Amino acid sequence: MSESDGLDSLRVTALAEDSVLYESPCLGQHGVSFLVEGTKNSDVVRILVDVGQNSQALLSNMKLMNVSPLTIDAIVLTHCHYDHTHGVVNMLKEIGKGDIPVVAHPDIFRPHFFSDPCLRHVGVMQADSEEKIKKTGARLCLAKDPVVLMSGIMTTGEVKRRTNFEGISMGLKTIENGRVKDDPMLDDISIVANVNGKGLVIVTGCSHAGIVNIIKHAIELTGCEKIEAIIGGLHLIDASETRIKRTIESLSELNPAMICAGHCTGFKAQVELYLAFAEKFSPLHTGMKFEI
Ligand SMILES: [Fe+2]
Ligand SMILES: [Fe+2]
Repeated sequence: MSESDGLDSLRVTALAEDSVLYESPCLGQHGVSFLVEGTKNSDVVRILVDVGQNSQALLSNMKLMNVSPLTIDAIVLTHCHYDHTHGVVNMLKEIGKGDIPVVAHPDIFRPHFFSDPCLRHVGVMQADSEEKIKKTGARLCLAKDPVVLMSGIMTTGEVKRRTNFEGISMGLKTIENGRVKDDPMLDDISIVANVNGKGLVIVTGCSHAGIVNIIKHAIELTGCEKIEAIIGGLHLIDASETRIKRTIESLSELNPAMICAGHCTGFKAQVELYLAFAEKFSPLHTGMKFEI
């Protein structure tokens, strides 16, 4: 991605997150949803990244924030988890356009469950199945490769695992060819935007691929090493102290101008991020808006 391929500006709005801003009338929920709006010349593309798990709360927040579902051009689902995908069919009905692209990894509809303390499916719910999404008229774009959403914004596609400290540690399972196996969450994708004169803005769902892996992948994809912002979940809530420490060391080397992390980031990691990045770090809340 050369300078001329970048965006003139980018706006990211947190439509849903576990917490809300102080005195905000918005509703929190366990899950995330972002509106990512890219502007280039006179073109504006509005991408809904994830839908949380509670469409009523999401739609209520959208109304409060003056975001009409009718203006959404595409949906990206960052991974299968119900707290990012539940209600996507409802949302597509609200958007009410045929052929709207829904971008995700091809494995997103696989069986995906915990067995501890008892069997529980935590992937895409039946109400949001592949068939039901297609029935709304939406166009599923399932790709392991990066998908360009507009010149200057793309998905990461499947993220190459490079670090030796960012494994999956949640006891998640899947079934492949009739065999139960650990789920490596290869479907975890993020959004990468390149803003002219600023650098990369990376918007993540849960960063199950590992935030350092994701950033390095984004740098490789775009050729841009300047990181303007990291916004989203970092899934360090169940990480060891060693992993948190090594993640923060790597992030410090990558030198982002801003990190705004919440959802599954976890309190301990948020504290360590604040200690390392001071005012460059902020916890993520529903209702936050970033103009880049
Ligand atoms: Fe999540
Ligand atoms: Fe997740």
